Amino acid sequence: MEGRREFARKWSSAEYMKRIREWEVPPGKAALWHMGQNSFLLKSGGRVMAVDPYLTDYCGSGRTGAPGEASRYLPVMIEPEDLDADLILITHSHDDHADPFTLERLEKCRNRSRFIVPWQTRPVLAEAGIPEERIGIIHPGEKIRWENWDIEATFCLPTDGTDLNHVGFLVTLDGGQVFYNTGDTAYTDLLEYLAGRRIDLMAVIINGGYRNLSHFEAARLVKALKPVRVCPCHHDVMPRNWQPAEVFRHSLRVVKGESEFYEIPYYEACLF
Ligand SMILES: [Fe+2]
Repeated sequence: MEGRREFARKWSSAEYMKRIREWEVPPGKAALWHMGQNSFLLKSGGRVMAVDPYLTDYCGSGRTGAPGEASRYLPVMIEPEDLDADLILITHSHDDHADPFTLERLEKCRNRSRFIVPWQTRPVLAEAGIPEERIGIIHPGEKIRWENWDIEATFCLPTDGTDLNHVGFLVTLDGGQVFYNTGDTAYTDLLEYLAGRRIDLMAVIINGGYRNLSHFEAARLVKALKPVRVCPCHHDVMPRNWQPAEVFRHSLRVVKGESEFYEIPYYEACLF
């Protein structure tokens, strides 16, 4: 696919996860790693959080491993069995976010981690064997304190009728830094209700397909919310979500957005 970023495996799955777990984030900073699609790992104050871990090819091949026309371009960097996160946030129930095949295989997290999800996502976790007591429900506008982080679910406009309870997340970390992930959302100017809030790093979807924000709508939203730095996401894993990040970068220039564009290189931490 033209414009696709080169991917070179740097470490094995287990080694990559171990490096993240053991890496000391510089004092007063938080670190974000992108694993493709809307999958992120975030580390702050020694704790690790995962967002929407899509760590299989479930959307392309289910549990068969046989590649299909919707199979992922980007290899899985961390296998579900190796994922070692203290907190797991999931934005909604669609397979590329609440992936049943990933969830079933979270051996390190299943009985230890805290999961925070909107209510329509809860049955997906339960069917994947996540114990009920590990799952917390969150609604748009609700804030949950976890350790010394504030987890706030943000408003999303659903993209189809199969899930009417998408959320994004605004996470305030140990050092006061704020990370915002839009989650999958259609465009509405209501998304600008967060204008005026501090956002240090914003991860915005840009793929445009499936009624998600297009690169231009994402740029308009970024201009309105004025995060310090913005990284594109949900554009780099599967053919049906494919969107070169450069197009979003250009749209940000067109709307005169002042935020710093930063496409996070795979295997590298974005400090904020
Ligand atoms: Fe999605």
